[in-house]
Amino acid sequence: MCMDILLGLQWGDEGKGKIVDFIAPDYQVVARFQGGPNAGHTLHFDGIKHVLHQIPSGAFRPEIKNLIGNGVVLDLHTLKNEILSLTKLGVDLTRNLFISKKAQLIIPTHRALDAASEKQKGENKIGSTLRGIGPTYADKVARVGLRVGDILLPDFKERYNALKARHLEQLRFYAYEVDLQEQEEQFFEAVEFIKSYPLVDSEYFINNEIRKGSRILAEGAQGSLLDIDFGSYPFVTSSNTTVAGACTGLGVAPHHIGKVLGIFKAYCTRVGSGPFPTELFDETGERLRRIGHEFGATTGRPRRCGWLDLPALKYAVMINHVTNLLMMKADVLNEFEEIMVCTHYELPDGTITDQLPYCLNSTKVTPVYQRFTGWQCELTDLQSFEELPAALADYIRFIEQQVGVPVTLLSYGSNRKDTLMRA
Ligand code: IMP
Repeated sequence: MCMDILLGLQWGDEGKGKIVDFIAPDYQVVARFQGGPNAGHTLHFDGIKHVLHQIPSGAFRPEIKNLIGNGVVLDLHTLKNEILSLTKLGVDLTRNLFISKKAQLIIPTHRALDAASEKQKGENKIGSTLRGIGPTYADKVARVGLRVGDILLPDFKERYNALKARHLEQLRFYAYEVDLQEQEEQFFEAVEFIKSYPLVDSEYFINNEIRKGSRILAEGAQGSLLDIDFGSYPFVTSSNTTVAGACTGLGVAPHHIGKVLGIFKAYCTRVGSGPFPTELFDETGERLRRIGHEFGATTGRPRRCGWLDLPALKYAVMINHVTNLLMMKADVLNEFEEIMVCTHYELPDGTITDQLPYCLNSTKVTPVYQRFTGWQCELTDLQSFEELPAALADYIRFIEQQVGVPVTLLSYGSNRKDTLMRA
């Protein structure tokens, strides 16, 4: 049981970067298994804010091996820039960043296709980050994609041109014009740059680490409600963000899974389009956005904000068999006089349920709320859960009772020190 998995249980942006960085000393390997540069994992320490998009969040710890797994879709130009900006901060990744040869490559026309497809959808657009994620996964499944290992092949350029030609055909269908010259130059520069990093047969790499007794942390991106199968389809991302994605995205058998760490905010946010039952359109939602600095780490878009949604949280806990809950951003609620939690949905026919309907998008659900009194005090220098204000302790206990899983970590600020653990 040597691979623990950290997953977002909501619509992404739960604070995975901070937690991976915080718990990383317990692990020898941190591995990303899905998603790509659509992710933005924010880490704060020594007064500096860092956003990682594709590099695993163990990057700041030189003793940790960071693996980009086969399930990831990789933008080499973005990766090169990420590596260079970390180098400027004194972080040398030449020996502790490993890239799967089987990860799929995002090429410039994938981004153009993403933009063209969103434009065509008009009002029904997904709200994609436009990083080429969907088209790259579509090519993977259509068995026409390029993989990182292909850059080492003598005919890589021909393979690239064949895929590009296919994309240009699709772009003509969309009547979408794009000037690719600069992006292609950047792409091929990045291809050369990446060749000096270890490109590995990642399934062997990680299983060897397991055999040696290393502890692995699989770092999820996005959130369970954006999962391609179990999320709010079609307003989802294009990968399995849930627990099984870690097995297929790394080549690790389920037998090796240990703890499943499910991370959620004390309230809810979402970027992009799609259903969000507890969304607040009033001053309270604005207040959550302002206090929580709820703006996308990748795109800077304002995040939609709302109260905690327990039917959705229970669903994510079920799909992932979460063993530990990690509650983030409790401090954002410090000033609130009252806090609401959605415990059930009321369906259009009046039925009250705590299950997610087949299609949240086409079923209008009305949240049924339970009201809590706010703790209305600052949270600083907490040493144990016993020191929590009573109202916050009640809030946590209620969530644990409803969901059936203990909250073993509480984050109440962006710094490493603002984190409380319970055995
Ligand atoms: P895509 O994965 O860029 O195609 O975006 C699909 C949907 O997932 C959009 O609603 C995005 O806003 C959302 N999304 C993608 N990545 C993230 C993330 O890292 N955090 C939060 N939402 C995301």
